[in-house]
Amino acid sequence: MNVSNRIQTAELDWELIDGIEVPISKQFGDVYFSKDNGLLETRHVFLNGNDLSERLTNLKDFEYFSVGETGFGTGLNILALWQLWQQVRPDNQSHLHAISVEKFPLSKADLIRALNVWDELKPLADQLIEQYPLPIAGCHRLTFPNERFSIDLWLGDAQEIFPSMAKTKAVNAWFLDGFAPSCNPDMWEQNVLNNIVRLSDYGSTFSSFSVAGVLKRGLKAHGISISRPRGFRHKREMLKAIWHPPQSDDEPSQLDQVYSLDEEQQRIAIIGAGIAGLTTAWAFAARGHQVTLYEQTEALSGASGNPLALLNPKLCPIEQSHEHLMTLSWQHALNFYKNFQAFRSLQIQQIALKNADELLDLVNQYPADVVTNTTNSLETANSSVLLTEAGSVSPHQLRNEILQHPLIDLKIANITALVSFENRVQLQTDYEVIAEADHVVVCCARESAALFENYPQLKPIRGQVSWVDNTFAPLPLNEAYSYGGYCMQLDASQMILGASFYPNREDQDVLLDDHVHNFELIHSVFPEYAQQLPSTSTWQGRASIRAQSLDYFPLLGKMQENSRVATFAGLGSKGFLFAPLCSEILVAQMLGEACPVTDRLLQKLNPQRFQKKVKPKKPYFKPQ
Ligand SMILES: Cc1cc2nc3c(=O)[nH]c(=O)nc-3n(C[C@H](O)[C@H](O)[C@H](O)COP(=O)(O)OP(=O)(O)OC[C@H]3O[C@@H](n4cnc5c(N)ncnc54)[C@H](O)[C@@H]3O)c2cc1C
Ligand SMILES: C[S@@+](CC[C@H](N)C(=O)[O-])C[C@H]1O[C@@H](n2cnc3c(N)ncnc32)[C@H](O)[C@@H]1O
Repeated sequence: MNVSNRIQTAELDWELIDGIEVPISKQFGDVYFSKDNGLLETRHVFLNGNDLSERLTNLKDFEYFSVGETGFGTGLNILALWQLWQQVRPDNQSHLHAISVEKFPLSKADLIRALNVWDELKPLADQLIEQYPLPIAGCHRLTFPNERFSIDLWLGDAQEIFPSMAKTKAVNAWFLDGFAPSCNPDMWEQNVLNNIVRLSDYGSTFSSFSVAGVLKRGLKAHGISISRPRGFRHKREMLKAIWHPPQSDDEPSQLDQVYSLDEEQQRIAIIGAGIAGLTTAWAFAARGHQVTLYEQTEALSGASGNPLALLNPKLCPIEQSHEHLMTLSWQHALNFYKNFQAFRSLQIQQIALKNADELLDLVNQYPADVVTNTTNSLETANSSVLLTEAGSVSPHQLRNEILQHPLIDLKIANITALVSFENRVQLQTDYEVIAEADHVVVCCARESAALFENYPQLKPIRGQVSWVDNTFAPLPLNEAYSYGGYCMQLDASQMILGASFYPNREDQDVLLDDHVHNFELIHSVFPEYAQQLPSTSTWQGRASIRAQSLDYFPLLGKMQENSRVATFAGLGSKGFLFAPLCSEILVAQMLGEACPVTDRLLQKLNPQRFQKKVKPKKPYFKPQ
């Protein structure tokens, strides 16, 4: 199977053994956990096999520890790890992150049934189940901020996924699970192991119930030392391994040189308080760092300040989902915003204006009930599908909630220059140096260019949203429609309609022409409803400027290697959708954490992608 194919869920048989219901994979003909006592075996093989009790207890303030796993299965190993973390974690800002890969995820119903046998894990299992992702290929980041714990669950084939992962942080400990090599040779294939080693570093440890020759030889070939302590209960042995640096080598490892991590609280300056700045501030503050947002006028004064934003993805064919920024961002955004009052869950009727077949076929591709042939309450003659997992965000409410975070401060200042020193950056206005920070993120949309040399071009696109009284027939609050434009209830008595789209215009007055444009968009699909709306001369609106990169991808990351200044801009027409996932990616790069997207996608977002590769000049010889 290829990682880009659609995901099949696990097919299970259930066997009742000594009062415990044990799931058995039909695909592999093997049990998910030991019939004796799966939880004790997990602790013996994976937790003790990596000395995790001791290693987690000793984590320093702001230290980030990651555990990788082959085969998420029922999540038992990861829950046992989480339980241990609760018991031994130090009272500081250290963080535990788990990364697991799964080709055949259990359906949610099967997951609930499988985890039901572990009473002591129930509080953790409930939290996992709440965030358990849809069976769609790609990385799903589940976050449990109060626990200082997170999980990246990568759905797809280990053979494809491990080679695709970006190495922004070495994995500290590995659970090599994945059914016995005899029933599942693919998981233990050379290339999988080589990539597991690529994602590791000196000091990384590995454990497995299997002592198969292929595993021992593979690890030894990389210079990793292996021991074979007693296995669980009647099992003679298991595998425990550690990657020691070569004796003769006092050089620091390659990874340490690339990412010299600062394990202490960082002072983060974020310039620009639109949605990019706000979600980035949140991502750093959630990790315990001190954030100051600098905004030239007031928060949300740019494109992010509309009264309501719709989370409306254009979904890709399912084969591309694992690397499609919009599809990944949609799933992450829903998980992120649901923690805020500013979020409203709704269903979007996506109406095809062209390529109707492509849109209609999504119903056959996406998991059942996510994209359906049913409709919302307004009727249209056009083809459409209903996206049942979507939402809206009230930007002003979100801003208020984010600014309540005790580690986030907002300061009004127009930052006009950044001066970098070796390990800090100075922020200047036209008049004075106003602050110093350890890291800076520039989130100023098109104005970001003023703070860098050779910033990539961002095209301005004028847009206006309109809102109008529709008490004659308000829509249900959980409905939205998209048709080139979009509409939904702003509140109980008004409808908001988006949005005009004029490339290369920077004027921001509210114009009747744009109201008429938004009226014509809704009229083209719902003529009867549109006729009843009050005259456009009574409509209210807000106009602002989108910033669009030339290849339609945001600019995310550093403009220069080893710099402490990064940028996040160019969010185009989908900023509210992109911002939460992009902020996680940026933080992963800046702080040296696991990255929730593939290396290829990371490179597509790299703001240096537009820089011309300058050929070195030929030396000039003066003619004699
Ligand atoms: C009409 C319209 C409707 C839209 N509807 C949706 C929607 O429904 N859903 C969706 O996902 N997206 C929507 N978008 C797109 C979305 O609004 C943008 O992608 C997003 O707002 C961009 O956010 P940002 O933080 O990058 O930029 P902005 O919101 O423009 O923020 C940049 C901030 O930087 C500040 N700044 C600039 N220079 C400096 C400086 N030197 N010092 C300090 N501060 C500075 C600015 O004042 C501004 O507040 C819409 C856009 C428009 C125009
Ligand atoms: C023994 S189970 C894992 C048990 C799991 N760690 C737990 O705690 O429940 C092995 C898992 O590996 C998955 N798997 C098998 N082959 C795979 C592959 N090539 N890529 C990714 N996952 C795979 C199986 O679907 C199964 O869920």
